Amino acid sequence: MTTTEPSRYFAADQLGAAGVFAHNGDEGPRALNITAASSNPKMFTLPWERPLATWPADLLANLPRGISRHVVRFVHVGEEIYAMKEITQAVAEREYDLLRRLQKLDLPTVTPIAVVTGRHDRDGDALEAILVTRHLKFSLPYRALFARNLRPDTADRLIDALAVLMVRLHLAGFYWGDVSLSNVLFLRDAEAFSAFLVDAETGDLHAELTDGQREYDIDLARTNIIGELMDLSSGELLPSNVDEVEVGDRLVERYHSLWKTLTGTEKFSPDEMWKIEKRVNTLNQLGFDVDELEVKTSEDGNRVLVRPRVVDAGYCSRKLLRLTGLDVQENQARRLLNDLDTYRASTWRDDDSLEIVATDWMREVFEPTVRMIPPEYRSQIEPAQFFHEILDHRWFLAEKAGHDIPMREAVQSYIKNVLPQYKLDTKAVAELNEEADSGVMDEQSTFGDDDYHPDDDPDAAVWAG
Ligand SMILES: Nc1ncnc2c1ncn2[C@@H]1O[C@H](COP(=O)(O)OP(=O)(O)O)[C@@H](O)[C@H]1O
Ligand SMILES: [Mg+2]
Repeated sequence: MTTTEPSRYFAADQLGAAGVFAHNGDEGPRALNITAASSNPKMFTLPWERPLATWPADLLANLPRGISRHVVRFVHVGEEIYAMKEITQAVAEREYDLLRRLQKLDLPTVTPIAVVTGRHDRDGDALEAILVTRHLKFSLPYRALFARNLRPDTADRLIDALAVLMVRLHLAGFYWGDVSLSNVLFLRDAEAFSAFLVDAETGDLHAELTDGQREYDIDLARTNIIGELMDLSSGELLPSNVDEVEVGDRLVERYHSLWKTLTGTEKFSPDEMWKIEKRVNTLNQLGFDVDELEVKTSEDGNRVLVRPRVVDAGYCSRKLLRLTGLDVQENQARRLLNDLDTYRASTWRDDDSLEIVATDWMREVFEPTVRMIPPEYRSQIEPAQFFHEILDHRWFLAEKAGHDIPMREAVQSYIKNVLPQYKLDTKAVAELNEEADSGVMDEQSTFGDDDYHPDDDPDAAVWAG
């Protein structure tokens, strides 16, 4: 274990929980405690004795953040980037625990890394705890998405992703309690988006949710979304033809129709059993796998009642993972699988096993393409998304030219003409993060650092006044 001052620390490491205690002369341990799912030794070298808002800029990663109530910062920790949120110990521990349970259920949430408690500044005054999660790579808060030129239906596509996320969380018994665009992160997923839960502070896991609990979550989501969109609109970030209330209503409608498809009972006559297969196919197309179906005959024996019991999201992404080891979003996976099929047909290999063809496709098609992503974009676009967009672009070029376009040429044209739109420059990120901090509520007392001078601090607006 590496620490800056080894003599001041000893590790209490049990069952994967690392504990570090800072001793302070004879006063007994003033315990700095890091409870972590796995240990990253670099965690011990961070300036825990300073309020998060005053951490030195060279530790921070300048990536866009969403609006938050607490101080949140992205921090380089060795090779990784962690999101740190300064909150009370009870809340940090609770959220950490909830996120861990959600991860075990395979739900799309940020990954919890650690809870840091027992922090004190150099004068011995107590500081709040910090919840550490892994920065979700390639994710964007919704305001960062709207800060760029976007397709006019972006709001709709975000809502569709949020509806899927809510249904998945609700199916698992998770009551969110504070659904809003600010508490979600979005990943590009081919033409669509995937949504990840980021703020679980108000949530709760139950064996099953009542209809009332679900309705409450949906209703609050609708209200929050309308408010958030109106806010974007007043900042002239929302396309003028977008009706905020209509978008809010879309969430409710999307949620209910998906919920019904995933959980509803269908009735068939006994000679229509093929309809079961159709039902399963429909669910597959929505990206859900059916693990268990309940099939019952009605009282009179004339009807068969069919209801999915266990549905799992990620039908295509699991298939692609199995074939290629690529772990990507559902729609990206569907697109990649389609390309794999095309490759198989065009190389006359319908009789070869898909596993073998997939290995060749990776080596001959996918890898050479994504290797062409220029280094300065590698942190901005996921390889699978890049590949998807290249396929689109190549199709677009071929249509214009009236003939096929070689892959390499399509890639070069895409890098030159399309990729630059992806870039969020440093200034745009700084503006977004300033906005993100404008809602932070913090107590002055937390910032008792002697060396601290608000005038020197670019983030001083966070807690001034
Ligand atoms: N693990 C993470 N990966 C990426 N962004 C994150 C992560 N954790 C927090 N954020 C960013 O910080 C913002 C605020 O986090 P959140 O947990 O909602 O704080 P608060 O409880 O103060 O509202 C989020 O909207 C998101 O943009
Ligand atoms: Mg939040």
